[in-house]
Amino acid sequence: MWFQCSTFSFTFFIHALCCFVTTMGYEYKMKTFDALIDHFSFSSQETFPLRYAVNDSYWKGDGGPVFFYTGNEGTIELFIENTGFIWEAAPDFNALIVFAEHRYYGKSLPFGNDSFSSPNKTGYLTSLQAIADFVDLIQFLKANVSGARNSPFIAIGGSYGGMLSAWFKMKYPHIIAGAIASSAPIWQFAGMNPCNTFAKTVTADFTRESPECSNSIRRSWKAIDNVTASDEGRSWLSDSWRLCEHLAGDGAALKEWLSEIYEDLAMMNFPYAAKFHHSLPAYPIKAVCSHLTDSSLPDRQLLDSLFRAVSVYFNHTGDARCLDTDVAHLYADLGTDGWDYQTCTEVVQGMCQDGVEDMFEPYSFDFASYSDSCYSRWGVRPSLSEGINLYGGRDISTAANIVLTNGLLDPWSGLGVLRNVSETAVALVMPDTPHHLDLRASNPADPASVRRVREILRESIGRWAAEHRAALSE
Ligand SMILES: *[C@@H]1O[C@H](CO)[C@@H](O)[C@H](O)[C@H]1NC(C)=O
Ligand SMILES: *[C@@H]1O[C@H](CO)[C@@H](O)[C@H](O)[C@H]1NC(C)=O
Ligand SMILES: *[C@@H]1O[C@H](CO)[C@@H](O)[C@H](O)[C@H]1NC(C)=O
Ligand SMILES: *[C@@H]1O[C@H](CO)[C@@H](O)[C@H](O)[C@H]1NC(C)=O
Ligand SMILES: *[C@@H]1O[C@H](CO)[C@@H](O)[C@H](O)[C@H]1NC(C)=O
Ligand SMILES: *[C@@H]1O[C@H](CO)[C@@H](O)[C@H](O)[C@H]1NC(C)=O
Ligand SMILES: *[C@@H]1O[C@H](CO)[C@@H](O)[C@H](O)[C@H]1NC(C)=O
Repeated sequence: MWFQCSTFSFTFFIHALCCFVTTMGYEYKMKTFDALIDHFSFSSQETFPLRYAVNDSYWKGDGGPVFFYTGNEGTIELFIENTGFIWEAAPDFNALIVFAEHRYYGKSLPFGNDSFSSPNKTGYLTSLQAIADFVDLIQFLKANVSGARNSPFIAIGGSYGGMLSAWFKMKYPHIIAGAIASSAPIWQFAGMNPCNTFAKTVTADFTRESPECSNSIRRSWKAIDNVTASDEGRSWLSDSWRLCEHLAGDGAALKEWLSEIYEDLAMMNFPYAAKFHHSLPAYPIKAVCSHLTDSSLPDRQLLDSLFRAVSVYFNHTGDARCLDTDVAHLYADLGTDGWDYQTCTEVVQGMCQDGVEDMFEPYSFDFASYSDSCYSRWGVRPSLSEGINLYGGRDISTAANIVLTNGLLDPWSGLGVLRNVSETAVALVMPDTPHHLDLRASNPADPASVRRVREILRESIGRWAAEHRAALSE
C-alpha cells in the first residue's frame, strides 16, 4: 500500500504524433561535482560525486541566465528528456542549461551501492541536503563558468523537483533569482488537506469521461474479491487476464496494481500519445473508459471489460506477452528506494480513500502503523511536522519571484498552491491539463491554457533576469 501514494510520474519523450515517432535526444555533457555528504555539520568533509548535465551551446558567456533544473526522485536523464520547455526557451534567453541530479537517485549515490544499507547511510537523504548540494554547485558554476559570476540563476522543476525549486527560492533568495515550480504539491503534508483529495481528483478524471466508468471501477474491487474467493475463480482470472503469475492468494496485489495505474493514468492523461512506463494513446482515460460502459454487469463480465480497459495501459503497443502486476516494475526509472525513504521521513502524505467520494477501496491512514512499517523497512520513523516546520506550510507570504503552475486534472493539484501567495509568488491554474504538461516540449495538441502559461513563464524569466541585472548595477 505504501507505494500507492508515493509516485510522481514523468513521461519519456517519445511522441507518436499522427504518423511518425520522434525520440527527443537532447544533447549535453554529463559532469560530476564533489558534493559534501553532510552540509550541516563540520565534523566530516567527505564528499561524493553528484552528477549534473550542462549544455552551453546557447550561452554567450556574458552574464545571461542559467536555467537550473532541480532534479527529482529519479535518474536525471528522465527529467532532461521530459522538460522540453527548458530546451525550447534556452536559445531565446542565451541561457546556460544545467540539470542537477538529486542525491541518492540515479548515479549520485553518496555511499555507492551501500547508500540504502543502514539508517546512518540513508540519513543524509533529505530535501535540505539536496538543496544545499544545489547551492554549492551553483557557487562552483559561478566561480568556474566564464561569464556566470553575476548571472541570474532560475530554478526550474516539476513535481517533487518543483517542490525543490520553490523551496530553494524561499530558503536561498540570494542564490536564486526566480523559480518555476510546475505541478509541485508543496501543500501535500499530512493534515493540510482532506486525506482523500488525491483519490477524489483521480476519480473525477474518470467520471468526467462517464460516471459508468468510475462506477465500474468502484464495483470491480468487490467483483475481484468474489471471483478470487475460489480456486476455480482464481484460475479463471489468471487465464482471462493473462497474468504472468497465476494468482495464488487473494487479489490484493492485483488490486494494488490497478490502483496504481488509475493514478498513473490520471497524471499522464496527456492530449497526445506519449510513453513512460508503457506507451499510452492520446487521452488514455478516454480510451480506458470506452471499455467501461456498464457498471451493472455480473462479476466476470465486469472483469472482462476491465481487462480490455487496462489493456490500454499495459498493452497499447500490442506486444505484452502477459500482464505483470508487480507494482515495483512500473517505476524502474524512478528511485523507488529513495522515494519510499523520503515518504518515511519528511514527506508524509497521509492519504486515504473512502470508496464513496472516490472510486477506490476504502483505506484509512493510520499514522502509528505507517510509522511501524517505515521503521521495519528503514529503521526510521516519519515526522508529521518536519516538512511544515522547514518550509512554512501555508504560511509562505514572504515568498517572492516564484510561479507555481498546476493543471486541475492532475491529482496532485489539490495538494499544490492554487492561489497567489504574495505579490510575486503567483499561482497559474490550467483547468484542463494533467501533471506538469507545461514543462514538457510544446506539441500541436497542447491546450491554449498551457500555451498561455508557457508565455507567462517566459515573461517571468525575462523579468527576473532584468531585476537581477538592475540590482547588480545599483
Ligand atoms: C545543446 O543542445 C542542442 C540542442 O539539443 C544541441 O544541438 C547541441 O549540440 C548541444 N550542445 C552541447 C554542448 O551538448
Ligand atoms: C552497483 O550496482 C550496480 C547495479 O546493480 C552494478 O552495476 C555496479 O557494478 C555496482 N557497483 C559496485 C561498486 O558494486
Ligand atoms: C552505521 O550502522 C551500521 C549498522 O547499522 C553500524 O555497524 C555502524 O557502526 C554504524 N556507523 C556509524 C558511524 O555509526
Ligand atoms: C573551480 O574549479 C576548480 C577546479 O575544479 C576548483 O578547484 C575550485 O574549487 C572551483 N571553485 C569554486 C569556487 O568552487
Ligand atoms: C459479489 O458477490 C455478492 C454475493 O454473492 C453479490 O451480491 C454481488 O453482486 C457480487 N458482485 C459485486 C460486484 O458486488
Ligand atoms: C496484447 O495485444 C496483442 C495485440 O492485440 C494481443 O495479441 C496480446 O494477446 C495482448 N497481450 C495480453 C497480455 O493481453
Ligand atoms: C495570480 O496573479 C496573477 C497576476 O499577477 C494572475 O494572472 C493569476 O490569475 C493569479 N492567480 C490566481 C490563482 O488567482
